[in-house]
Amino acid sequence: MSKVPPIILNNGVEMPQLGFGVWQVPDAEAETAVATALEAGYRSIDTAAIYGNEKGTGRAVAASGIPREELFVTTKVWNSDHGYDATLRAFDTSLAKLGLDHVDLYLIHWPTPARDRYVDTYKAFEKLYADGRVRAIGVSNFLPEHLERLIGETSVVPAVNQIELHPHLQQHAAREYHAEQGIATEAWSPLGSGKGILEIPAIVAIAQKHGRTPAQVVLRWHLQLGNIVIPKSVTPSRIAENIDVFGFSLDAEDLAAISALNEDRRLGSHPAEFNAG
Ligand SMILES: NC(=O)c1ccc[n+]([C@@H]2O[C@H](COP(=O)([O-])OP(=O)(O)OC[C@H]3O[C@@H](n4cnc5c(N)ncnc54)[C@H](OP(=O)(O)O)[C@@H]3O)[C@@H](O)[C@H]2O)c1
Repeated sequence: MSKVPPIILNNGVEMPQLGFGVWQVPDAEAETAVATALEAGYRSIDTAAIYGNEKGTGRAVAASGIPREELFVTTKVWNSDHGYDATLRAFDTSLAKLGLDHVDLYLIHWPTPARDRYVDTYKAFEKLYADGRVRAIGVSNFLPEHLERLIGETSVVPAVNQIELHPHLQQHAAREYHAEQGIATEAWSPLGSGKGILEIPAIVAIAQKHGRTPAQVVLRWHLQLGNIVIPKSVTPSRIAENIDVFGFSLDAEDLAAISALNEDRRLGSHPAEFNAG
């Protein structure tokens, strides 16, 4: 079984560098998918209130028998629950659905700038952190301008910013800003949602060279850059494949070939414009 190395967050908490994402996994299937991932060796699970599968995720965690301190559970507050009091209520709901007494990482899912409430939301996060109900707090889909404001108006620097990041959207400026501020970069849709990225000839060629799959090459690229990754799959063979990425390394030529694929092309929404919910 692969051993996933940790990233040390800015408050000293260890987070596995590779975890399991469950977006678009219906609650009824989440229990099986998460159980398969835990059996394959994953110890970090990334869910969110809006995914509607915190209950299934929690059931798999409870049934696994894995000691709680060996697991790292992330969930996220949804856009409609921004604001201090609403966030505290949303956290209680998430925790109850997960069946846990704390989460390891709580994220603001989107800055949703038109609401202009993410600072209040984050102040509720600081309370949850001070109360020991979350081991680390962070954000998702925050642009450097949102982070700058948050850091200026609150006291706990976010531990993580989870952003869309894959070979077509390499996020150089954001990664540089995070590094300067001590914020870990976590990549969502690390495989580009399994679409075009895995068929790019340069990636297929690198996979053939190493006797690996394109998905393994892309995950290895993230890991060697220092990104945290949370690939999603409901397919047992892919769940196993995606964690089997610690027995080989990409060389400088491979890394350069993947770096050359950046197109600044998003699959998801632009954080400056996404205010749904
Ligand atoms: N914070 C945010 O706003 C945000 C947004 C999007 C995602 N996320 C998080 O990031 C996680 C991952 O992102 P994602 O689900 O969008 O995309 P992803 O992990 O990049 O790709 C998942 C897709 O790729 C397929 N796949 C997985 N492993 C594969 C492999 N080895 N070979 C070929 N295809 C493979 C999966 O198919 P099967 O499942 O059919 O096997 C699925 O369709 C999410 O689950 C969620 O936790 C966060």
